Parts: sequence; C-alpha cells; structure tokens
Amino acid sequence: MKRTLGVCYYPEHWPEDQWAEDAKRMVETGLSWVRIGEFAWSRIEPKPGQLKWDWLDRAVDVLGRAGLQIIMGTPTATPPRWMLDKHPDMLAVDDNGHARKFGSRRHYCFSHLGYREESRRITQLMAQRYGRNPHIAAWQTDNEYACHDTTLSYSEAARTGFRDWLAQRYQSTDALNRAWGNVFWSMEYGTFDQIDLPNLTVTEPNHPHLLAFARYSSDQVVAFNKVQANVLRANTDAPLIHNYMGRETSFDHYKVGADLDIASWDSYPIGFLSDRLEATPEHKQRYLRQGDPDLQAFHHDLYRTVGKGRWWIMEQQPGPVNWAPYNPAPLPGMARLWAWEAFAHGAETVCYFRWRQAPFAQEQMHAGLLRPDSEAAPALAEAAQVAREIETLPDVSEGQAQAALIFDYESCWGWNAQPQGADFDGFRLAFAAYRAARRAGLSVDILPPDTTDLSGYSVVLAPGLMTIHDTLRTALAHTKATALIGPRSGTKTDELSITSPMGPNLAGLDVTVALAESLPPTEAIPLKSGGHMVHWFEHLEGGADVTHETTDGKSAIMQHGNLCYLAGWPDQDTYFQIVRDAAIAQGVDAHDLPDGLRIRDCASHRFWINYAPEPVTYQGRTVPPADILWESL
Ligand code: GAL
Repeated sequence: MKRTLGVCYYPEHWPEDQWAEDAKRMVETGLSWVRIGEFAWSRIEPKPGQLKWDWLDRAVDVLGRAGLQIIMGTPTATPPRWMLDKHPDMLAVDDNGHARKFGSRRHYCFSHLGYREESRRITQLMAQRYGRNPHIAAWQTDNEYACHDTTLSYSEAARTGFRDWLAQRYQSTDALNRAWGNVFWSMEYGTFDQIDLPNLTVTEPNHPHLLAFARYSSDQVVAFNKVQANVLRANTDAPLIHNYMGRETSFDHYKVGADLDIASWDSYPIGFLSDRLEATPEHKQRYLRQGDPDLQAFHHDLYRTVGKGRWWIMEQQPGPVNWAPYNPAPLPGMARLWAWEAFAHGAETVCYFRWRQAPFAQEQMHAGLLRPDSEAAPALAEAAQVAREIETLPDVSEGQAQAALIFDYESCWGWNAQPQGADFDGFRLAFAAYRAARRAGLSVDILPPDTTDLSGYSVVLAPGLMTIHDTLRTALAHTKATALIGPRSGTKTDELSITSPMGPNLAGLDVTVALAESLPPTEAIPLKSGGHMVHWFEHLEGGADVTHETTDGKSAIMQHGNLCYLAGWPDQDTYFQIVRDAAIAQGVDAHDLPDGLRIRDCASHRFWINYAPEPVTYQGRTVPPADILWESL
C-alpha cells in the first residue's frame, strides 16, 4: 500500500487568487490530499435555502486540477447563526441546565431531530453536487464528534428522546425499576414520562440511570452520523471517514465506525500531554516538546480497529497549538516522527493541520505548515521529508500484534457513573496496561469487548471491563495466550449491579471478589514480589492458585491455567513486570525498553521510535532524539 500525506485547507479563509499558488505548493511539498469544507456552511448557505456553490466549485476545481485528491467535509459542526432562528431549541444544554451559546462551534444537540434533518439536508445537497466529482476522493462526516464535551446534552429534545429510548429498552417501568434497583430511596417510576435526565439531582443519581443516559447519548451520535453516511452512500463511491479525537470515550466509536469505511483521528501530541494525561511533572517536562511516547500509539492501535483495518490521521499537529494550558513548540524532527509513527502502525494517510496559520479568529496562534505571511513554518520541510521518504520505503505489510488489549466504551461510562475512587478511570487503566506492554516491546492490537477470536496472541490484557461479554468469555476459554484479566473486570452486570456470584465468573478461574477498596495517591499496597497496587484493590477469595501476594498475605494475582485475575491496579513498573513475565512465559522475546524508546513491529518491518530528548542506545543501535529508524524483519 502506498502511504500518502495531506493537509487541511480552508479556501474560504483566503483570497481566491491565492488558491492556485497554495495548491501548487502543496503538490511541490509532496502532499496528495487536501481536506476542505468542514466549517464552511455560512458560505455555502448564507441564508436559509440560498445556496452559493460557485466559490466551492472553483476551489474544488483549482485544487483538483493541481493534482490533489480532495476530502470533502460536511459542514455540520458549525451551523450558521440563522439556523438558531429556525431552531431556537437546537442548542445543547449543559448539566447545570444552561443552553450553550452560539459564537464558537459544535453548538448543536445530537438529540434535536430538527437539526438532524438540517444535517441530512445539507449533506444531501453537498453529496448531490460533489458525490461524483472526480476530484473528491473521500468524505468526512461532521468534525470531531464529542469535541468540547458535546455528547451529553440535557435539553428538552434529549429528555423526550431518552424517555422513548428507555421505553424501547425496558418495555415497562416495572422492568426498568427492577433493572435499576429503584426500590432504593423510593426512586420507583410509574410511567416513562416521569423519568428525567440524570442531572441536578440532590445527591448522586442512580448509577444505571447515568449509564442508560450515556448509552442513549452514544446512540444519538451513532444515529446522527448514520443519517449522513446513508445520504453520502447513495451519492458517492468515495470512502466515508470521520475524524475522531484523543482520549474521547463519551460515545461508542466502534459503532460509529461500523457505518464508515475508514477511521481517522486528530493527533495533537504536545497538547494532549499537557491537558489529557495523568503523569508526573517530571514526565511532562521530559516529553514537553515530543508528547507522550505511548499516547499516540494507543490511538493508532485503537482506530485501526475502529476503521476495520483502514485508518488515517486527519489532523497532525505541525507546531504549537493554541488550546492547551501551555503551548510549546515541538522538537525539530517531531512533525516527521509523528507521521512516521502513524505509518508504522498502519496509517494509510497523514494530513497535517493546517496549511497556513490563520492571522484571525480563535486559532490565530495555532501553527500551520506555512506562517500567516506564507513563509514556510518549520513543519513544512519535515512534511516534505516524509513525502520523499515514503517514496523509498518498500511496502510495509501489517501483521497481528503479540498482545491484545480489550477496550470497551461502555465500561468507561460505567466507571464514570460509579468511579468509587477519584482516580479510577476506564481509559486511564487501559492506558496503564498498554504502556506496560509497550515498555516490554510488544506491539498491541486494541480490540472491542465483543471480540470473538483471540487466537494468535501471546498476551491478552482485559483490565476494567464492567461486564465480560459472552463472546469474549468463549474467546478467553479458548485462547492459548496468557490473559491478564482485571482489576475490576466482570464484577458488574449490564446494569451496574454486583454480579452473583461476585466476581468475573470465568470458567475454571475460581475467584470471588469479596470486597473492593479504592486508594488515595498517598496509599499503595506493597507486594511480596516487590512493587505495589495503587488506586484500586479487590480482596479475592476462591480456589484458584495465588501467584502474587501482598506483604500482608492477601491474594494479588490468582491464576488458573493461562487465565490470571489481577486484584489491583499495579503501579507502572509492576504492571510492566507482570506483562513482561506473561510474555516471556509464552516464549516472546520481551524487552525492557529504555525510557522514550518504543518498538513497533509489522509483518515485514521493525520500527524503532525515539521520543526521548536525547539519543538512546539499545542492543547496539543508537536512535537519535525525535527520530525513527526501520529495518526489514
Ligand atoms: C481540532 C479540530 C480542528 C482545529 C484543531 C486545532 O480539534 O478538528 O478544527 O480546531 O483541533 O488544534
């Protein structure tokens, strides 16, 4: 497969006589894709029903004739101001009951059926006009679903939709009351119309009520996207893509991905390190200008699965962003390394965001490949270098990774509803397991919770799964991998009640979770073998073998055959030891990679990626800082 590069471009931001020169420079840089359109609604339809296609026709023509393939975005993340006059109640409402205002973007509620119809209408108009245009080679639906905390909305439209959704799911309020345990605190309902959204309650709402609202809200994102996907499908053969985000768990990406052809995500490594990751101040300082060495890779591996094997970077950070608390510039080389790392994980295309830095509006301090004065910004030369290098790299064939990590959005919602400890978070736990595997040099496939087949893996990581799906149970029963299940896996029903018997109930693995405790950062439970359990610890009983114990004699890991249950959340070094031991037990050549150095294996190549700010030497090979090397396997 030929890897390609692209860039995000906003013709409506620039004088028309600049477009041809921009397009020519993009092509000279080695870019082959350009994404346009996703925020342009007010220029496409300045007044209701008054459509102005002429400028967009010319932009498509200029870019396409320069040799660029166009990704056309539907503009539904930015409805124009007049839309609010038509649909005054379309705004999302925050959990304090305040409508979120016009004046930025994503000012719509996923539940609002009037806006959903407007979204279908504009998508259809665009699809009819450009669906068969030879220059349009892909479509992007909307832009970054959920960005700016927009999945959950406590609007009237959401309340109506939620009640309908509950009636369909539970059929009767008796069934709902039983499922939720509403006898507690006299929370029982007599009709579905009595059920409100779970905000502004006096103390915490019932957890299954929160979980149901998370499920409902995720379904609205899926439905909103499906409306656009259906319209586009009828009008184009080009692949359909959405650009997902980093550490965004508020909707089920697997389900949105099922309706599209390619998954993409928007990778801002330096911004994410500063505002989206729990890490020590030392770690954040060390990786200030590179980003976290595992966070991008996690999303590459996740979105590869969301895209059913096909995935892109739709927006790649080129320099300082504008939206994090602090916005340092990347180390020289990082704009190249990030793109290469994505290719190493199987990306087809990496698009930089954006072509030219805008001198106006909210993102005027956000770098592009060009400065506002059209001189080259530092990332332009790095993008050009990547473009030259992909010409020389022989085909990189994908292969199955050694480790599988099961990642489940519903579990994230369950634990949000019922964290039980301030530091318990589904993503955070899954990422800790991922980091451990990566330090051991393992390549990882991230798989959905209804995975049916684990054959071929040496290590399976299944932390923090609220429930264990029946398909996964069967796959675990058949896997030859060492499976590290838990902590907090299979301990709840689908409705967030405690399972009976209490525990994961996996065939052969006799483990009961008798009690669970959460721990503040000041407390850690020491293990006899060294290291600690942090944040979370379950008191286990049962007949399975105890392989690790706390210093006071409690079971820390119990095992039967190749299935292991972790009682707690191991600290990062301990997690690494446990995963590495599991890999070694399976005959895998596991590593202890130096800080910042990471390996990614494809079937044909090994990539060595150095996020450290200094050269790293390992096994006789020195990788310069902010650099990536590859070798054939
Ligand atoms: C993304 C978004 C882009 C732009 C970018 C800035 O979240 O999709 O439109 O805002 O961030 O970093």
